[in-house]
Amino acid sequence: MNRRRLIAFLRTFAIVVLALMVVPQAVPAQRAAPSPPPPTPYNPYPPGILPADLQSELDRVSREVNLLFQQALAESRALPPPFLTGQPPTLQGSGVQMVQTLGKLMNYDMNMSPFKNVACASCHMPYAGFSGPIPSVNLTMIAYPGSFRFRANKRTAQRYTYSPWYPVFQFNATQQLFFGGNFWDSRATGYLLQNPDAEQAQHPPVDTGEMGLPDTACIAFRLSQAVYRPLFEQVWGMGSLDIKFPPDTEKICATPGGAAVFGTDTTPVKHSTPSWRATPR
Ligand code: HEC
Repeated sequence: MNRRRLIAFLRTFAIVVLALMVVPQAVPAQRAAPSPPPPTPYNPYPPGILPADLQSELDRVSREVNLLFQQALAESRALPPPFLTGQPPTLQGSGVQMVQTLGKLMNYDMNMSPFKNVACASCHMPYAGFSGPIPSVNLTMIAYPGSFRFRANKRTAQRYTYSPWYPVFQFNATQQLFFGGNFWDSRATGYLLQNPDAEQAQHPPVDTGEMGLPDTACIAFRLSQAVYRPLFEQVWGMGSLDIKFPPDTEKICATPGGAAVFGTDTTPVKHSTPSWRATPR
C-alpha cells in the first residue's frame, strides 16, 4: 500500500469511526470515494410521528437495493460485447441489453444521492408498484425520508410506469379538457423538448424531496466515479463523461440542494464545458 492510498484509507476509516460516534443509527455501507459523513438525523417530530421501525426498515430497503445493484453489476459483466454495424452505425447484439442494464444500475445506485445512502429505487421500488416499499411509512408518514434523514417530501413517491407513453401537454377542443404532460400535475409539459418524459427526467435528481442533489452536474460527477462508468461510456459514447470537475465537487454534491450555502445558485459545480458541448448549436 503506497503512502497516498494509506492516507486515503486512514481518512475513510476516521470518517467511518466519526460517523459511528455521531450517528447512533446504523449508517448504510458506502461503496465509493470518501465523502463527508451524513449529518445527525434531523428529528423535530413529536413522538409517534416517525414509525418505530423506520431505521430498521430503511436498513432493510438499503440491503435490497444493494443486492439488486450487485445483481445488475453481475449482469453487466456477463454481457457479450456489442458490435457497431450498419449505416448509420448502430450497436447490435447486446446493445439493447446494455441500455437496460445501465438503467438498472443507475436505478439501484446509492451513490446517486448526496450522502450515498438512497437510490432512486429506495422510494420507487418495483415490488411496490414503483412507489415506497415500507408498510409502516405508507400507514403513517406517507412521504419518504430522503438522503438527509429524516426530511420528507410533501407526498408519497409517485408511480411512473405511464411516463414514456404520455403526449405533450395539450388542449383537446372536442372534450374541452387538457391531456398529456408528466408528473401528477402535468408540469413537465414536454413543450420545449417535444417529449414530456425527457423533460421530466431532469427533475428527480435535483428535487429536494427526491434525490436532493444541488446540481444536475452531480449525477455526471457520480457517474464518472461509478464502477460501471465503462458501460455508460459504451452506451453514450466515449468522452461523454470527459468533464473537468473542480476539486470541491464531492463536497458540493454531498450538500443537499436548497442549503443556505448555495444561495440562489442552481449550478454550484463550476465544471468545464465537456468536449461534446464545445461546438455551438
Ligand atoms: C426520498 C424519496 C424519493 C427518491 C429517493 C426519489 N424519488 Fe422520485 N418521487 C418521489 C416523490 C415524493 C415524488 C412526487 C414528486 C412531486 O411531484 O411532488 C416523485 C416523483 C417521481 C417521478 C414522477 C412520477 C409522476 O408523477 O409522473 C419520477 C419519474 C421519479 N420520481 C423518478 C425518480 C428517479 C429517477 C429518482 C432517482 C434519481 C427518484 N425518483 C428518487 C420520491 C423520491
